[in-house]
Amino acid sequence: MAVTAIELPIWLEAELRSDQAGETGAVWIYRGVLATQPGPALRQFCLRHLATEQRHLAEINALLPPQGRSLLLPIWRIAGFLTGFLPACVSERSVYLTVAAVETFVQAHYQQQIVHAEMRQFPNVKEKLAAFMRDEIDHKDEAANLAGGLPSAAAKRWCYLVGAGSKIAVRLARRV
Ligand SMILES: [Fe+2]
Ligand SMILES: [Fe+2]
Repeated sequence: MAVTAIELPIWLEAELRSDQAGETGAVWIYRGVLATQPGPALRQFCLRHLATEQRHLAEINALLPPQGRSLLLPIWRIAGFLTGFLPACVSERSVYLTVAAVETFVQAHYQQQIVHAEMRQFPNVKEKLAAFMRDEIDHKDEAANLAGGLPSAAAKRWCYLVGAGSKIAVRLARRV
């Protein structure tokens, strides 16, 4: 079934709203890192990822009817910005660890949407989300490789917080 922004069932609108929140957060993570004026390698990493997240966000926005959009977008922007800005103030490695943690969450999030039983009726949405998930896996692998080695105890706590925060954001965004 072809999907336009006006004929979404409520459950799918809620799921896409959570994706909109997530992709908004993702865009602002990289803006948060870039605000710290990182070195050339991290800057290039951020610009490349930012371009992909902006494309994801534009494609999600095109699927969601205006009344289905998250009312909390300003909050997702601030949360995303801080999720990039704070680790970037610590070290480049902290940014890579944070991105790997975020993308681990996002991969699982898209995966559960793709396997949703009702999603079979919306093959074009399913395909789109699967393509997004492949990009997020690339982002995760690249960030994990660049971080290298095991995270410190503090980094582990931070990444746990990032994962827990993302979970809360998804729950909220499905509603508003
Ligand atoms: Fe994305
Ligand atoms: Fe990503």
